[in-house]
Amino acid sequence: MRYYDDFPVIKNNPDLVYLDSGASSLKLQSVIDKMNEYYTKYGVNVHRGVYQLSYIASDEYEETREVVAKFLNAKTKEIVFTSGATSALNLVARSLSEHINEGDEIITSVLEHHSSVMPYQEICKNKGAKLIYVPLDKKGNLTVENFKKVLTDKTKVVALTLMSNVLGNTTPIKEITKLAHEKNAIVVADGAQAVPHMKIDVKDLDVDYLAFSAHKMLGPTGLGVLYGKYKELNSLNPIEFGGDMNDNVELYDSTFKEAPYKFEAGTPKIAEVIAFKEAIKYLEKQDLNKIYEHDYELTQYAINKLKAIDGVEVYATESSCGIVSFNIKGIHPHDASTIYDEKGIALRAGHHCAQLITKWLGVTGTLRASIYLYNDYSDIDKLIEATVVACEYFKEWII
Ligand SMILES: Cc1ncc(COP(=O)(O)O)c(C=O)c1O
Repeated sequence: MRYYDDFPVIKNNPDLVYLDSGASSLKLQSVIDKMNEYYTKYGVNVHRGVYQLSYIASDEYEETREVVAKFLNAKTKEIVFTSGATSALNLVARSLSEHINEGDEIITSVLEHHSSVMPYQEICKNKGAKLIYVPLDKKGNLTVENFKKVLTDKTKVVALTLMSNVLGNTTPIKEITKLAHEKNAIVVADGAQAVPHMKIDVKDLDVDYLAFSAHKMLGPTGLGVLYGKYKELNSLNPIEFGGDMNDNVELYDSTFKEAPYKFEAGTPKIAEVIAFKEAIKYLEKQDLNKIYEHDYELTQYAINKLKAIDGVEVYATESSCGIVSFNIKGIHPHDASTIYDEKGIALRAGHHCAQLITKWLGVTGTLRASIYLYNDYSDIDKLIEATVVACEYFKEWII
């Protein structure tokens, strides 16, 4: 099943083998239609106008907040719209930095995307706090046992990914969060890769914050979500100031609205927010548990097939889902990727904005095939055929 009607990019490129959803998924026709509806039928600003069209736009916008909240088992007021996972992760880090002092410790891992670790590097440099890395096990997994080794009374923040964008493996975040909370540490989870593939219940995981991007889960670009437990979220100060987030403005001081609005300064991504609910409704209709099963099966199939090819090195674990990183031994991934492109296979090559893990793997980068609900076994078989061809082409250089 290739979902021709649901994804116009597939319809317009029927031979495309799209294996780069980890970078950005294909966009749904219903999302595009909804954006079009906004622009053509009621394309005005939200939360400001005292006229019918503005009420319609505002209701549509706020309805998405409700849909996202329900999707995560959160409260509506716990959902902040941002411009992406990166801005959500930066928002929470910068807001939390007020509460970080010299000698405090922030736990992270080399599995992180740059957007989940670099904000804390800055805080640590500015505040004299310490960035502590959970050691990975031999396979590249983040384990509860290793987390216990770095958790101390000085831990203030635990910033970890739920799913690596290079290895595709998942983090035992529920157990980690329980331990972190025993030390009164705040847990910030990066869900950019996990939320598109698996059912996430924030109440069950009990994380304090969760960030993710709409464009990796069939939705529009330029939009992200920050979930925050209300008490925590509302205790933070905003980092952007301006229209709509303020309450009373005086000459030398102003007051802010309550969360989530105090974190949404200026005219928001109106069309994107309004359309995003279509992506979530679609994912729910397909059933996230079934999506996970499908993506996991295809991923493990790809891993096993790639491992069987002489000259190929695969970087993956038993929990890898949706992401397969690999290299043709001794061949730079950028050189290898040209072969795939010639065969109409879109995949990514490089460090994937996660240099710490590629360094940990001892490589400059990897080829990365990322899999989503519209992929099927034939896509993986084409990836394998192209890999055999690439190995043959580079055979004199393979080490
Ligand atoms: C694990 C992870 N975190 C964060 C991000 C950042 O997402 P965005 O570029 O949409 O802000 C990405 C994007 O690839 C990611 O894979």
